[in-house]
Amino acid sequence: MITIDKVTVGYGTAGFIKAVDGVSLSIGDNEIVGIAGETGSGKSTLMRAVYGDFSTGLRIKDGTITGRFVDQKNGQVIEAPSSRFHRLWWDQMSYIPQGSMSVLNPLMKIEAQVVDGLPKRERGGSRADLRRRIADFLAGFGLEETVLDAYPHQLSGGMRQRVLVAIAAFVNPRLILADEPTTALDVVVQKKILLMMVEIQRRLRNTLVLVSHDLGVHYQITDRLVIMYKGQIVETGPTAEIFANPQHDYTRNLIAALPRLHGKRSVDRVGEAP
Ligand SMILES: Nc1ncnc2c1ncn2[C@@H]1O[C@H](COP(=O)(O)OP(=O)(O)OP(=O)(O)O)[C@@H](O)[C@H]1O
Ligand SMILES: [Mg+2]
Repeated sequence: MITIDKVTVGYGTAGFIKAVDGVSLSIGDNEIVGIAGETGSGKSTLMRAVYGDFSTGLRIKDGTITGRFVDQKNGQVIEAPSSRFHRLWWDQMSYIPQGSMSVLNPLMKIEAQVVDGLPKRERGGSRADLRRRIADFLAGFGLEETVLDAYPHQLSGGMRQRVLVAIAAFVNPRLILADEPTTALDVVVQKKILLMMVEIQRRLRNTLVLVSHDLGVHYQITDRLVIMYKGQIVETGPTAEIFANPQHDYTRNLIAALPRLHGKRSVDRVGEAP
């Protein structure tokens, strides 16, 4: 679905601050890929590059990122370089950026924000119908319809985060990129939201790329894990294998620093049909 080929990504127009250094990775259909690594290792930068969001001054200096999506409506194959991904936003791909509390506009009610984010095709029909569909969808996230009439500050952090996950999934994209979607939340809410994301991924059979510095989260839900260190990928493989047999010193230390993981992976994806 996404092929990242030796990309070097950074910021700046005068100078160039390198943040991702010669990374290659392919992201396939119907999988949950985790990205872990210490702060500043380039996780968010890689996600922005994969989403094709150049608004932060991000620049791909070397290498290429290409996408290949099969349109679910007409079966047409869409192939594009990342510079053209913006055409696929909220359609083939959606993105929950890090620190996404700030993504919601404080001056707009939730309903207006959801509707604004939708592609035109989803806005067809009457506004009342659309509201009904959105409300039904939010109900699946344990959110009441009244959430639609609230301003962001009237919701709890966990509710806002569920709204964002719901918006990202509502359009049934093939690829959802989520950058630390639950980090600011308490463990119980965090777990609920992560389980929802897994449930959505299974139901839509799409691909979820989940960035988290929390290896416990990866242990629980990802199929494949990518470990970044100083802008490079130092290790990648099936999550269970990396936990059982970490190769790189950095990964070994990360795993050693974890509080003991309780026995089995709590969302056991092993042995599941592809
Ligand atoms: N908008 C920006 N402009 C300039 N430099 C940036 C920008 N965003 C990130 N960087 C730099 O790029 C490098 C990688 O940052 P990035 O945000 O990708 O790390 P991260 O792995 O997501 O860290 P964290 O776990 O703290 O979210 C850092 O050195 C950072 O200072
Ligand atoms: Mg980050």
